[in-house]
Amino acid sequence: MLKDKQVVLGVTGGIAAYKAVELLRLLTKAGANVHVIMTRAAQEFVTPLTFQTLSANPVHTELFNLIAEREIGHIALADRADLGVIAPATANVIGKIAAGIADDMLTTTIMATKAPVVIAPAMNVNMYTNPIYRDNEDKLRRHGYLFVPPVRGALACGWEGDGKLAAPEAVFEAAVAALSRHDYNGQTIMVTAGPTREELDPVRFISNHSSGKMGYALARAAQYRGARVILVSGPVNLTPPSGVELVAVESAGEMHAAVMGRAGECTAIIKAAAVADYRPAERSGAKIKKKGAELSLQLVKTPDILAELGRLAKAPFLVGFAAETGKLSEFATRKLHEKNVDMIVANDVSQSDAGFNVDTNRVRLFFRDGREVDCALMTKDDLANVILDHVASALRLLQNS
Ligand code: PMT
Repeated sequence: MLKDKQVVLGVTGGIAAYKAVELLRLLTKAGANVHVIMTRAAQEFVTPLTFQTLSANPVHTELFNLIAEREIGHIALADRADLGVIAPATANVIGKIAAGIADDMLTTTIMATKAPVVIAPAMNVNMYTNPIYRDNEDKLRRHGYLFVPPVRGALACGWEGDGKLAAPEAVFEAAVAALSRHDYNGQTIMVTAGPTREELDPVRFISNHSSGKMGYALARAAQYRGARVILVSGPVNLTPPSGVELVAVESAGEMHAAVMGRAGECTAIIKAAAVADYRPAERSGAKIKKKGAELSLQLVKTPDILAELGRLAKAPFLVGFAAETGKLSEFATRKLHEKNVDMIVANDVSQSDAGFNVDTNRVRLFFRDGREVDCALMTKDDLANVILDHVASALRLLQNS
């Protein structure tokens, strides 16, 4: 989403200015070309050289710089920008923009740009709750400026409360969301992700290699595209995208209850989770002790959540996954019809660069009308957008029919 985008990153004077360095790293890693503008106060906290080195672009500190003015002019950055981000943003700079004051390079660029602008405030808690500040933020929100609210914590001024700059990752996510299509506005999308754990006793369980990466990529992309996202997740080591509603579960039984309980709220449900098909018939209350040379376990079927969703009288649009190690078309088509779903995303999990616990995937999509679409190897983030493109066009067709 940020690849080759021109991003203007405004850094204003506050102790959190050092966190803008990490934000710059995230933006450049995602492929953005970042142009940093620092206010005079910001330069008291971090040197322009740090930003210049990491962005590989000159850092702008003066409104009228003789060389820059000759080469690009003081409005050129505003025209060139695809996105503006101010992090940290002081009450002072927010107040100036709200009042229409453009008296330095940053405020001039932000006032002159037609690109979306993301503002991440950081300030003393009493400044943040001051009605004058609140009016300024409300006014900018009304005019379409996007805000990443500060978080609670110990502030540099000695106070405790709201005012700490949001994590660089949260500001980064807001930046990506600002540049995304918002074709999922007003839709509720449920995504299931990760493995389930079926306990044998207090110390052991049956599970699988799902890392949750595919499901979390889908949740993130849907959130960026404007959806309200319910993420039902088995145990994984991933941070949920900010703003999604996380429902953490352990077992297939818990996932079943969570999904069926919220299905009625959803326009579409995407089931990327690797749900255990069987669980131990009984869970021992105490650790099972080692005895003979063999141990037999009796397993019983777990509820097939996707199939149950397919039987609902008014089912949301249903996307199932199929993890196969061969006969991809045959098994995927069977799942499509037997589970009565609208679309199956089939991955051959015997390949080392696809399926479980890798950042990439290679899938074939199967649709109810018999269409099949091959998707070449790509990142799970890119694939999530491809899947959402297909869901969005199917939903549009359904809504127009
Ligand atoms: O999490 P990652 O490491 O990123 O890996 C991604 C993935 C390989 C887990 C993902 O791409 C994937 O293929 N997920 C589905 C895995 C799976 O359980 O496939 P299945 O063929 O066994 O199940 C078919 C469908 O039925 C799936 O949508 C599954 O969520 C659903 N199901 C299965 C069993 C069950 N009891 N209830 C279900 O709803």
